[in-house]
Amino acid sequence: MLLHDDINTAAKLIVEGRLVAFPTETVYGLGADAFNARAVARIFEIKQRPSFDPLIVHIASLDDMSLLTSDNDPRIHQLANAFWPGPLTLVLNRTDRVPDIVTSGLPTVAVRMPGHPVALELIKKAKRPIAAPSANKFGKISPTSAEHVRKHLPEVDFILDAGHTTIGIESTIVRLHETGFQILRHGAVTMQQIEQLIPNAQLASQNEPVAAPGMLKTHYSPDKPLYLADNPIVPKLNKQKCGLLSFTGHNTQGYHAVVLMTESLDLKEYAVKMFAAMHHMQDNPDIDYIVAEPVPEKGIGMAIMDRLRKAADKYTSPDSIQ
Ligand code: TXA
Ligand code: MG
Repeated sequence: MLLHDDINTAAKLIVEGRLVAFPTETVYGLGADAFNARAVARIFEIKQRPSFDPLIVHIASLDDMSLLTSDNDPRIHQLANAFWPGPLTLVLNRTDRVPDIVTSGLPTVAVRMPGHPVALELIKKAKRPIAAPSANKFGKISPTSAEHVRKHLPEVDFILDAGHTTIGIESTIVRLHETGFQILRHGAVTMQQIEQLIPNAQLASQNEPVAAPGMLKTHYSPDKPLYLADNPIVPKLNKQKCGLLSFTGHNTQGYHAVVLMTESLDLKEYAVKMFAAMHHMQDNPDIDYIVAEPVPEKGIGMAIMDRLRKAADKYTSPDSIQ
């Protein structure tokens, strides 16, 4: 099969220190051999990513963990058993083997076993962990298809194309503390799911400030202003120049383009389509602004609103985007 041959080619390129974009269940990643500092440096170059923003290291088997961390907290195994392979990233104390450039010099490394067969086969064939951020320019919209990567990161050596991703939003990032855990980035694995496994979770998650170096206020931004609307939606804008990302299907009149993100108020469906809809609006020459309707902040809705707020951060009032 073609994809199978492509995975062999991609694995060989990783071993040679080249960069490969590959699908995960969340978004496409831009991968390099995690132990090859030069290859990893090229990720930062191509993404135009600041060196203070560390990468996630992807593994295909729990055996790979000992290369990256000597942490042995039983809660790590609980979480790994429950959510790996899948959209959960754990921040762990790192071994000396992990190059500084991967962790931006931090004493910790972010690790995840992705839940996509192509990603897992790539890592297994390359026989090494793969460091990979999302395959987009820094601060821009994340890629949920190979097409997005091709368009926005044409410098990549090779792109493994396995169609659209199935979750559509980046992994949940978790840091364990003595008394519980802290969510550094919301994703498809929810706080409630983690709390079911780890006692006293709320203590740490409520009391400690969020601290992930890459978690800037502005992120995931389209090249056009994005306004996160309150209901009723933005009366001041010229709606003919606007594209609407609609959640409820209400108040859609007058917009130049409307994407109904879900037929049945399904937040998971919204997450799958979110970045693709932003790409679509960004690429439409007749649209000057994007308006997004807020979604309820429950389950994956927390992760969706986190991304929408960051995408919209620069445009906080209708006046600011006239
Ligand atoms: O779903 C995902 O997580 C995707 C796919 C490709 O796996 N990856 C992804 O990577 O979203 P990226 O680089 O776009 O976001 C990773 C974030 C960084 O912005 C950083 O804040 C955080 O992970 N991170 C990485 N290492 C960390 C560390 N040691 N401590 C705290 N945060 C860390
Ligand atoms: Mg990213």
